[in-house]
Amino acid sequence: MGSTVEIFPDEARLAEAAADRFVTLAGTAIAARGRADVALAGGSTPRAMNALLAAPPRRAAVDWERVRFFFGDERTVPPGDPESNYAMNRETLFDPLGIPAGRVFRMRGEADPPVAAAEYARLLATELGPRPRFDVLFLGMGPDGHTASLFPGTLQSVDDAQLVVANRVEKFSTWRITLTPHVINDARHVVITCGGAGKADALHAVLDGPRDLDTYPVQLVAPVDGELHWLIDAAAAAKLATRR
Ligand code: 6PG
Repeated sequence: MGSTVEIFPDEARLAEAAADRFVTLAGTAIAARGRADVALAGGSTPRAMNALLAAPPRRAAVDWERVRFFFGDERTVPPGDPESNYAMNRETLFDPLGIPAGRVFRMRGEADPPVAAAEYARLLATELGPRPRFDVLFLGMGPDGHTASLFPGTLQSVDDAQLVVANRVEKFSTWRITLTPHVINDARHVVITCGGAGKADALHAVLDGPRDLDTYPVQLVAPVDGELHWLIDAAAAAKLATRR
């Protein structure tokens, strides 16, 4: 199916657009299947999106009891660590909305990374079936072209037969836990938010340049039977080809 690219004047408008997309796509999933399975990201735009979702008027626009939360990736830190994607989302979304722990499925960043990845793969298979399909998967893009925790130069070692893997990121001397490419591309909707001037060069290469997955892993995002929504701010879009 298709992809769309939308450009907003600044980071605040980008966050509003992301929050509005959450409301719309969660609502569509609930209307169609009775619940919305949403995978969240870390980062700055998701934080701002969450604050908008937890406040009026959007707070009342989602049937939160029918939303389940998953994660696209996680850092290998305990759940209370400021670096944890779970911690950020708990602070800005789950706690303000009173989402019970039973509807939040986190990756165990505190565990041995391959063990945590295998555990999360089993969890996804149990909760979502052998071919997990997220209704909405939120992703970001780093200035280096990474998405989820699929970093440049690491794709060769990612076993895409798995649902979730531990991925070694040498430039940070760390492990990350991440969904694999095929799980990302099985989502019904993938929303990539991308803001800030620091991403302009990479975004130009990603959207206007040749396919080079090893350098720009975010180029792998192409839902097989779903939609890709790029939500971008003007600073990140500054170097895009004018035809947009
Ligand atoms: C993470 C993310 C990662 C993020 C990008 C963009 O945990 O680091 O999931 O893939 O989405 O790095 O982050 P920003 O929106 O903060 O630039």
